[in-house]
Amino acid sequence: MPLTTTACTLVLSLLSALVSTTAVQPKSLSALEVCVEIASTVSSASEVFYPLEPYYTEDSYHWSQSSSQVSACTVEPGTAEDVGAIIQILARTEMPFGVKGGGHSANPGFSSTTGVQIAMARFNNVTYDASAGTATIGAGLIWDDVYAGLEQYNVNVVGGRVTGVGVAGFTLGGGYSFLSNQYGLTIDTVQAFELVLPNGTFTTVTASNPDLFWALKGGFNNFGIVTQFVLQAYPQGQVWGGSIIIIGETDAVKNATANFYANVTDPKASILTTLNWELGITAIELNLFYDAPTPPDGIFDEFLAIPYLTSDISTRSFLSLVLTAPSNATFGLRGFFDTVSITDITLPFLDAVVNETEFWSTTLAGDVPGLFVSYDIEPFLPSVYSRGSSSAWPPTRSQGFMPVNIYYAWSLNTSDSLINSVMQESAHHLTQVAISEGQDVGNTPLYPNYAIYDTALSSMYGDNVARLQAIQAQYDPDNVMALAGGWKF
Ligand SMILES: Cc1cc2nc3c(=O)[nH]c(=O)nc-3n(C[C@H](O)[C@H](O)[C@H](O)COP(=O)(O)OP(=O)(O)OC[C@H]3O[C@@H](n4cnc5c(N)ncnc54)[C@H](O)[C@@H]3O)c2cc1C
Ligand SMILES: *[C@@H]1O[C@H](CO)[C@@H](O)[C@H](O)[C@H]1NC(C)=O
Ligand SMILES: *[C@@H]1O[C@H](CO)[C@@H](O)[C@H](O)[C@H]1NC(C)=O
Ligand SMILES: *[C@@H]1O[C@H](CO)[C@@H](O)[C@H](O)[C@H]1NC(C)=O
Ligand SMILES: *[C@@H]1O[C@H](CO)[C@@H](O)[C@H](O)[C@H]1NC(C)=O
Ligand SMILES: *[C@@H]1O[C@H](CO)[C@@H](O)[C@H](O)[C@H]1NC(C)=O
Ligand SMILES: *[C@@H]1O[C@H](CO)[C@@H](O)[C@H](O)[C@H]1NC(C)=O
Ligand SMILES: *[C@@H]1O[C@H](CO)[C@@H](O)[C@H](O)[C@H]1NC(C)=O
Repeated sequence: MPLTTTACTLVLSLLSALVSTTAVQPKSLSALEVCVEIASTVSSASEVFYPLEPYYTEDSYHWSQSSSQVSACTVEPGTAEDVGAIIQILARTEMPFGVKGGGHSANPGFSSTTGVQIAMARFNNVTYDASAGTATIGAGLIWDDVYAGLEQYNVNVVGGRVTGVGVAGFTLGGGYSFLSNQYGLTIDTVQAFELVLPNGTFTTVTASNPDLFWALKGGFNNFGIVTQFVLQAYPQGQVWGGSIIIIGETDAVKNATANFYANVTDPKASILTTLNWELGITAIELNLFYDAPTPPDGIFDEFLAIPYLTSDISTRSFLSLVLTAPSNATFGLRGFFDTVSITDITLPFLDAVVNETEFWSTTLAGDVPGLFVSYDIEPFLPSVYSRGSSSAWPPTRSQGFMPVNIYYAWSLNTSDSLINSVMQESAHHLTQVAISEGQDVGNTPLYPNYAIYDTALSSMYGDNVARLQAIQAQYDPDNVMALAGGWKF
């Protein structure tokens, strides 16, 4: 519903009253003025929302509660032209802003702000071009909606593995999918980025602009705001798999995971093994995937033989499989991710992962209310990067690195710095364990969609940092995108 002038004035005066009684910095006032200017500039396809209005809450929502901030207003642009007009206003007023796709960044401030929150939600189209074999998908979508939209054409794209994850950040950072062993990372499947440059100009970036095309494949929001992605589409029929929850039986899960990694070379098979600790119990979640209605004999037998608490494995649609993974266990909690990049999955390494889960949950439980500790092993074939060509991330494709996803959740902001240092210490320890068993991972590039917020750029982008900085300086000479959070070149 468009905000009427009266309602707008009312909200403004309420907020001004709030501002004067709670002594917020004067900046919030000018943020409100910027909101009003945006509202009066954009077309009717776009809208601005203020606190207490329904879409404000949705626009500010993040998967991890510590990734949300209270902005002066949210804006939902509905056209690329309006995105351009908004960027120009933000640039001129030097107003901090956030750009949110699915809001799944677990790094504070990466897609939020105390200034103007841009929510891409209205870029929500999914179209399939059968002759080109591509799908054009809006930057405000979550993968669930993309899969749902493409199902009718019996095609799919390379995207997220669990429910709720946003297309935009996932794609702009790399994108590990159940389909990656077959087709590569999501960035390897991008045919075009529809992009609003930091100066407000709309452009379509393809391989014919090699610098920008390369830079956007891993470079997040440094080069502007993406409105749509054109991705390669692939045939998709029914798949097999789902999720299994297991209590106890840790040794059996470790054995099955190590054996799967060592023995299974079928690119249609994929798994996630996740150790979740909560309230004194370690519950293992297995996500099994095979890209056909029935897997070949043997591949998953060892997993299926383990006694389980719950199991939801069947032949089903791709979307249905993605929906089985419970991803809401930590709803409302704060949460950070961190990561280690490994080249092998061995029993001793899995022992160390189990030990990290138990050691840190036991050590921290008394001090950290609401603690949830999770370590996720993600096996991929060594050839996983061979499907794509040079991109901002990963900085080298000579070897396939597997990201371990470390995820901690908790209740109170007083635990934030302790958790940050524990997660970094734990990642460091696991790196040392991998090195001690012969993995050459002292300098393996960390996955920027999992790395914790103070990770050095060189630890993720390696030798690509200099080229990324040069491209950033060319396309954003005024550092407009530095007003938004995230990894910055
Ligand atoms: C439950 C869960 C499951 C996950 N599963 C996977 C997985 O299977 N594989 C994997 O690779 N990763 C996975 N991730 C990590 C995920 O890829 C990142 O969190 C990703 O950044 C999420 O994208 P988003 O759009 O939801 O994030 P947001 O928080 O909205 O954005 C993340 C970053 O991208 C920028 N950005 C967002 N939209 C735009 C835009 N339109 N233009 C320019 N910049 C933009 C933001 O400013 C921010 O810096 C998972 C994360 C979670 C929480
Ligand atoms: C979505 O598609 C419709 C129909 O083609 C079009 O009118 C609209 O502009 C598109 N929206 C966006 C945000 O691209
Ligand atoms: C796991 O494998 C080891 C050998 O590597 C074996 O000794 C052990 O019994 C196995 N455990 C389970 C539960 O399968
Ligand atoms: C791989 O498969 C073989 C035979 O099927 C089995 O003996 C072995 O334990 C498996 N695991 C590893 C890690 O090699
Ligand atoms: C997650 O759980 C919370 C609380 O149990 C509920 O309010 C919320 O709607 C759930 N969200 C999803 C996406 O299921
Ligand atoms: C368990 O983890 C802690 C913390 O990383 C470490 O200090 C300890 O040595 C580990 N124990 C074993 C048996 O690996
Ligand atoms: C922590 O949370 C409290 C209570 O919600 C809040 O008052 C305080 O400002 C927060 N502190 C920080 C540093 O975010
Ligand atoms: C915006 O930037 C692009 C890329 O640098 C440039 O080609 C274009 O001319 C610029 N437009 C304006 C209006 O400055």
